[in-house]
Amino acid sequence: MNVYDADRMFGVLKKEGYNLSQDVKDSEIIILNTCHIREKAVEKVYSDLGRLAKQKNQRNKEGLRTIIAVGGCVAQAEGREIILRAPYVDIVFGPQTYHRLPDMISRSKSGESKIIEIEFPLESKFDSLPNYSVENSKTAFVTVQEGCDKFCTFCVVPYTRGMEYSRPLEQVELEVKKLVSSGVREVTLLGQNVNNYHGKSQAGKELSLGALIKRLSKIGGLTRIRYFTSYPADVDDELIDAHREVRALMPFLHLPLQSGSNKILKAMNRRHSADDYRNVVGRLRVARPEIALSSDFIVGFPGESEADFEDTINIVKEIGFVQAYSFKYSKRPGTPAADLKEQVPEKVKDMRLARLQDVLSLQQFQFNCSFVGKSMPVLLDRRGRYDGQLVGRSPFMQAVHVMAPVDLLGEMVDLTISSAQRNSLSGEIAKSI
Ligand code: 5AD
Ligand code: SF4
Repeated sequence: MNVYDADRMFGVLKKEGYNLSQDVKDSEIIILNTCHIREKAVEKVYSDLGRLAKQKNQRNKEGLRTIIAVGGCVAQAEGREIILRAPYVDIVFGPQTYHRLPDMISRSKSGESKIIEIEFPLESKFDSLPNYSVENSKTAFVTVQEGCDKFCTFCVVPYTRGMEYSRPLEQVELEVKKLVSSGVREVTLLGQNVNNYHGKSQAGKELSLGALIKRLSKIGGLTRIRYFTSYPADVDDELIDAHREVRALMPFLHLPLQSGSNKILKAMNRRHSADDYRNVVGRLRVARPEIALSSDFIVGFPGESEADFEDTINIVKEIGFVQAYSFKYSKRPGTPAADLKEQVPEKVKDMRLARLQDVLSLQQFQFNCSFVGKSMPVLLDRRGRYDGQLVGRSPFMQAVHVMAPVDLLGEMVDLTISSAQRNSLSGEIAKSI
């Protein structure tokens, strides 16, 4: 979502005549779009700011002004604190106010300092942003839902992104149509809780994500649809139905489970048990047998015992996740879990994370190996590291490398998989589709 937001920030500023600079050293305005999800991401913001302060100083000596703006969720959560710790920051703005960037920048240019805009405005930014476009890309993100009211006890998102909001159906549809007419063939629908989408249509009816996907699948030229990221308890029958019916909906689903232990899931305030998760996966597999699953896991949540951690390892093997993001629990100020007494020692978290990642990585490798000798459609969307090499994505989000003529860039091509690595596949051209 930060990639999408950054693109949209650029869109607003481009309309005002700004361009992307090739080197940050030449930038008149520097915008850091930040993430607050784990402590590490926050630390990075302050260390980047320290580096940028030196640059601002240097440019100052040369008589050049630099505006430093901090946006995104760290800005939302820390607000004034950022300017107290880093007084050379000119603008602090949250994820819901970036449509006002031109105004903030012009105020800063006219001498106003310490501009902070972190309220949740009544107007939706989507109503005031210019049309969204991506240049020369066959894939695009589209935010359809934002915010979260689930309040998992470890998570800052409900505080930083705000309450759930779904964009109206026709607004999403128009954005996707425009992207497709500019050459995009694959869209990923985004939201912190995307499968709780409930956007209104002009007729006043609320639509679920499943219904939205069915509607978007009718747009000619849109070959692939994905969505990211989902909440297990919000997978409804219409979404499962979309997985059964819509061929453009890719058979790969990121469905965060967080832990395999019911005790920990409860302490996390997740509104599903391990069995509820098994049940959802079972229904999805009946609808789309080849569907592959990915997840997020947190190890070392307060109170997690060895037995709880074993439950996680066991369910990872049982479900057969083919990919996952796994993290050590990170204490986030203001969230309920940060105050829990039974915090797990860092060393234990390290050991559990390494063990979980070993299991996940082996499963990912085995999954990749299962494609050797088979062919699959790959959307070649970027150049590889080597001359003559292109890289694309398989239906299951695997990166696939191939030696291919550059005019196939942007094309959907059938590749025969010749070898598998842990994180990618290599293929040869079978035939163009
Ligand atoms: N510590 C560790 N991981 C976290 N996540 C969210 N909050 C925390 C935290 N405090 C992880 C969850 C979530 C993903 C986006 O980030 O696994 O699904
Ligand atoms: Fe955070 Fe996701 Fe839980 Fe919402 S559902 S509080 S975004 S982990």
